[in-house]
Amino acid sequence: MARNISASHYFLYKASLNMDVRSLRVIEVNETMQKQFEAFCHEFKVDDPAEIHGIGSMAEGRPVENGTTRLYDFFEGIDRSRDHAIGKNLPEGWVPATTYWLIDNAENVHATANLRHQLNDFLELEGGHVGYAVKPSSRGQGCATQFLHVIKLLAHDKGISRLLVTCDKDNIASRRTIENSGGVKENEIVSGLTGKTKQRFWIDL
Ligand SMILES: CC(C)(COP(=O)(O)OP(=O)(O)OC[C@H]1O[C@@H](n2cnc3c(N)ncnc32)[C@H](O)[C@@H]1OP(=O)(O)O)[C@@H](O)C(=O)NCCC(=O)NCCS
Repeated sequence: MARNISASHYFLYKASLNMDVRSLRVIEVNETMQKQFEAFCHEFKVDDPAEIHGIGSMAEGRPVENGTTRLYDFFEGIDRSRDHAIGKNLPEGWVPATTYWLIDNAENVHATANLRHQLNDFLELEGGHVGYAVKPSSRGQGCATQFLHVIKLLAHDKGISRLLVTCDKDNIASRRTIENSGGVKENEIVSGLTGKTKQRFWIDL
């Protein structure tokens, strides 16, 4: 059963924009929303959905051709995501993590986020507790900021007291999203994966 989190109390309404963020809500991955999830992925125009931040365990397993973007098998992704959320069938070195979608009243998916329930060495240094992405057509309207507010509450429910969120130094939108959520920068590191400078922020919950 998808957990449905009403978030309207936490949403700030940006009246000048065309999306009323109060109509958005956060759910865990849901098997009834294949069409909406695939539409979300197609907007990114990437060959591999694993490139979409915060897609979490939806992007492991057998890829299938689907239009211009290769999508992984949706239902396998749902099963895998649910397993990983309870720490079942985790690949070596992975920690339990829950994947959430930000949806509107018509069940369009606007954003995805993956909340790691604990940190390992890699996450402590580079990955952090949370990865997230908003689809291109929904950006600049407060989605990420509001999503992260709700993710903070969900993380607190899971017993996390300080949330580590990282972003590339040149990713201004992500940095502002983190700062909007109370992120305090600890330091900068050079990513062992990309060679880019990454900023590490902590958010007290
Ligand atoms: C980063 C990302 C999640 C932001 O999503 P979003 O819904 O557009 O963010 P919001 O509308 O909540 O805006 C957050 C802040 O960023 C600012 N912002 C948004 N887009 C921006 C842009 N292109 N350039 C500079 N600032 C930007 C907003 O003004 C806002 O700051 P403010 O409150 O000071 O005005 C989105 O751009 C994205 O999905 N990018 C690709 C994936 C990614 O980078 N994920 C994060 C990995 S660390």
